[in-house]
Amino acid sequence: MLVIAVVNLKGGSTKTTTAGHLAAAIHEAGMKVLGVDCDGENESLQKWQEAADLPWPVVTLAVSNVHKQLPGIVGDRYDVVVIDTPPMKAQRGTVYSVLRIATHVVIPMAPTPVEYDRLLAVREILAEVADDREDGQSPIHAVLLTRVKPRAASTGVYRGLTVADGVTVLKAQIGSLERFAQSWGDPMVKVLDTAYGAAAMELLDLDRQEVTA
Ligand SMILES: Nc1ncnc2c1ncn2[C@@H]1O[C@H](COP(=O)(O)OP(=O)(O)O)[C@@H](O)[C@H]1O
Ligand SMILES: [Mg+2]
Repeated sequence: MLVIAVVNLKGGSTKTTTAGHLAAAIHEAGMKVLGVDCDGENESLQKWQEAADLPWPVVTLAVSNVHKQLPGIVGDRYDVVVIDTPPMKAQRGTVYSVLRIATHVVIPMAPTPVEYDRLLAVREILAEVADDREDGQSPIHAVLLTRVKPRAASTGVYRGLTVADGVTVLKAQIGSLERFAQSWGDPMVKVLDTAYGAAAMELLDLDRQEVTA
């Protein structure tokens, strides 16, 4: 079973939008997916599920020992678990616990100086958590560029800076689009055809060798 965690330092970084669309794409691809809402507050994945009656389940687990509770809740019924997390700055313990059991971590990031600056804190927690994981390594992780403007030079600039930092950046990138900006609470359909579908498939293909190469 894969556990994909969507993580960033602050709110407003498109974590929930990303978690929702990745889960929807994975569901459309025919895998059994469970959404896990470790935020519970804000415009959370659980409330999205309630509003839109999404065709895959979401459970709320807004606790600081997710790594202990999740295995018992999930059992062996799912292929992929997608975890939406609270802002790390406010709920570091919860995010740290999620990172202990994540197989894959997605860091949504707009190509802007502010969001790039926040990546440092995420890289630090990813390094720190290695000691508390069974494999003794950081989980596989990649930046997903989001809210990308057409033809903006910023996209290439921040992609280049992030790669130079040694962090994988998914080839798929999410445009700054009304479709995504307005999506919370709406049923998501045909997501596999969007950049989120490409991002989901790319993410599931990442293995540790590619990441560290
Ligand atoms: N691709 C996108 N283009 C433009 N706006 C977006 C996009 N994705 C999300 N948003 C907007 O960004 C804001 C924050 O999204 P959200 O997923 O709730 O972030 P977080 O969970 O990190 O707080 C929302 O107002 C949403 O409408
Ligand atoms: Mg959120």
